[in-house]
Order: sequence, then C-alpha cells, then structure tokens
Amino acid sequence: MPFAHLKHAVAAATHPDPYPFYTRLRSCPPLGRDDGLGMRLAADAATVAAVLTDHRCRVRPPAEPVPTVLAGSVAGGVFRRLVRMIDGEAHASGRRAVVAALAMLDPASVGAGGRRRATVLLAERGAGGPGWLTGFALDLPAFVVGGLLGIAEGALPATARAVEAFARCLAPGSTSEEIALGKVAAERLAGEVRAILDRGEPGGLLAALLAARLTAGGRCPTPDPESVPHRTSVHDPDPGPEPAGPPAPDPAWVVANAIGLLVQAYEATAGLVLNGLRVLALDPALRAAVAADPGLLGPLLAEVLRFDPPVQNTRRFVAEAGEMAGQPVSPGDTILVLLAAAGRDPAANPDPNRFDLHRGERRLFAFGAGSHECPGQGVALAVAEAAVRAVLESGVGLERLAEPRSFRRSANTRLPLWP
Ligand code: HEM
Repeated sequence: MPFAHLKHAVAAATHPDPYPFYTRLRSCPPLGRDDGLGMRLAADAATVAAVLTDHRCRVRPPAEPVPTVLAGSVAGGVFRRLVRMIDGEAHASGRRAVVAALAMLDPASVGAGGRRRATVLLAERGAGGPGWLTGFALDLPAFVVGGLLGIAEGALPATARAVEAFARCLAPGSTSEEIALGKVAAERLAGEVRAILDRGEPGGLLAALLAARLTAGGRCPTPDPESVPHRTSVHDPDPGPEPAGPPAPDPAWVVANAIGLLVQAYEATAGLVLNGLRVLALDPALRAAVAADPGLLGPLLAEVLRFDPPVQNTRRFVAEAGEMAGQPVSPGDTILVLLAAAGRDPAANPDPNRFDLHRGERRLFAFGAGSHECPGQGVALAVAEAAVRAVLESGVGLERLAEPRSFRRSANTRLPLWP
C-alpha cells in the first residue's frame, strides 16, 4: 500500500503520496481522535470549512498565546503581534491593515520583479548541487517580499537566511537549537525593518503597511508617551500585549507584521513552485501544452494548489465547548485541519484525483478559509508563476524532477528535494 509507512496525518505532509491516506481519513467520522498525535482530525471538505470558520477555534492555545520558549525575547514580541497568530479584535484590525497594504501592490509589477529576480538567481546558482532548485524556490519569495519592503539588495541573501531560521523556529516541533537560532534571526529581521523605518523613508509595501495600520485599524501602542521609545525598541525583549487606543504610529506592530509577510510567503510560495514543477515533470503532454502557451501557467498553479498544495495542514485550538461538524468539542481540543485532504474531497471537487487544468468551479482550501484566509494570494501566484516560467526558460531538464529524493523536513509544508 502506498501509505504503508505513513504513521500519522502530520507525516503525510512530507510523504511521496499522502493522498490515498487522506482518502481513508475522509471516510472516518468527522473530528476523530488520533491518540498518537493527541489531536482530532478534520479531513473532509465540510469539516475543514466548519472548523476554519468557527469562532470557537483559535490559532493558538488560549493558555499559551505566545510559545513559552519565546517569552521575553524579541521573537516573542514579534510573535504576539503577528496577525497569523492572534484572534479577536486585535486580529481583525491588524488583518484589515495587512489586507489593505497588500491590495496596494500591482500584481503585474510584482510578477515582473519576480521574473527579473528569478532569472538572476538561477543564473547565479547554476543547476547543480543537492537541493539547489529548492534553495532557489525558497530564496525567491524572500527576495521579492524583502525588496518590496525596501530591504537593501545587498542585505537580501542574509535576510533570506534569517527568514529561514525564524520560520524553522516557529514551525511545530522545532528543536531547541532551531529556537535559539530563530531568536537571533528575529532580532536581525526586526533590526533590518526597524532601520528602514528609522531612516524615515519606508517605501513600497512597508509604507503601505504603516499607512494602513493608521487608517485600517491602528492602535496607540501605549497611553504613556514616555514608554513609546522603550516599547517599540527592537532590543526590548517582549513589550507585552497591545493596549487598546486610538490610531497612532505603531512601529512595533509594523515591524512584526512585515516580518510576518516574509515568513508567510517563504515556504508556502516555494512549495507551490516546486510542486508545480513536479506536476510538469510527471506529465510530458502538460509540459508541451504549457511550453506552447505560457498563459496556461496560471490555471496550472491553481490546479496544483488543489491537487498537491504546499501547505498541507494547519491547526486550531478549541476555546469553548460546543458542537462542530455534528461532533461535541471541548476546550483543550487541538484539531489538525487537513487542507490537502479537503481539496481532494469529491464532494468539493468532482473526480478529485484527476489533474484538470480546466476544472470549472474549483474549490480551494490551500489558502485556508474564514477569518485567517491567506491575504497574500495575489503575491503568491505572481511570484510562483514568475519562478516556474524562469525555470522553464532556463532549459533545466524537468524529467529528472518527477521523483524527489525526499521532502524537506516539515510538519505542514510539502517541498520536494531533488538530488
Ligand atoms: C502559495 C503560497 C501560499 C500559500 C499556500 C499560503 C497559505 C496560507 C494559509 C493556509 C494561511 C492560513 C493559515 C491558517 O488559517 O491557519 C495563510 C495565512 C497567511 N498568509 Fe499565506 N500562503 C501563501 C503565500 C503568502 C504570501 C506570498 C503572503 C504575503 C505576501 C502570505 C501572507 C499570509 C498572512 C499574513 C497570513 C495570515 C492571515 C491571518 O491570519 O489573518 N501568504 N496563508
């Protein structure tokens, strides 16, 4: 059986073919418990949608809004401000600002910038060395989003390494060494972004984030003017939760959520690029069709997001007792939300195991749903299309990408590694 060695739904994310396993999970009663993982599983489309849109489900355990290991560090201060990591009114107002800032970007120029950067990165790297293509796909979103935030060209490679370290530190199951490195990386990233703000000339996306924070839901960092410099310093380990108040400049929030954009874009966009290349590698007819008509790249990536999505799962923490998907739930329940399994649910997408470029009414779960649905979809698609196009034009032989050597270690993202 293809999933003979698959122990549980977290391991599925990095299994060569997790989809038969997901089919089996969908046929189980909704929100069944996996005692080994200590989690309940949402696998079918209806349950995944119900969990993601239920206000009793939180993105963090209510008793531990910031991971204890990050408390008192710059990383902890960044974490507690990330829209991805909070719920309630602080999330809603912060999210409005992030959405407004991203909406100010022109997808065509993001794509053009991505294409230029992709061509340069590919030429610099050359085709060689284990994992080189994965490294390219990871660096590109960090370079594009970093460039949009105004990070200097020369600092982008080090920024990408810091994003990698911080993303590793935030991932479920990170080791103590990864956490230590992630804390250092968070200080570096915060210093980088803060320096741009301090120069008083934030451009592009950072200026948009700053302006949007003021108009779309800004909060005064503190009623005490004397504590403003202290509270917003990147050297301040963890300035604590945000107080309510009228709109005011809020650099600590802007710094945190600029870092959030870098981290959120990083592995997920790379996974879309790599899984897209793998689909092309496996299907010569599709490859020929895309070569003849590059306009098919958009539909190709949309179907990859359904068929083999880069973010395979996410987690929710039940805060209040009640019923969800017809099942009783209790505070303390952790739910593993299998986005990748939902995309293959025949109730959502008929004939789900067929890769169909021209699928009508495709229902996607790859970007999540509900109040935390990904606001970076336009950037993700523009960058991924630029990357795949650049790889195709570079003449890299795709045939050898059909069988990955392995997948990058992760509890939720799916990034193939080739020899
Ligand atoms: C193919 C690439 C991407 C995929 C598959 C993806 C997927 C996701 C998913 C599934 C979530 C929701 C997680 C949850 O609810 O637990 C999310 C949230 C988020 N994503 Fe993306 N993402 C991608 C690229 C990006 C990019 C390029 C950006 C920014 C430029 C971005 C910014 C965000 C942010 C800020 C959130 C948090 C939103 C909130 O909590 O309100 N993402 N993404």
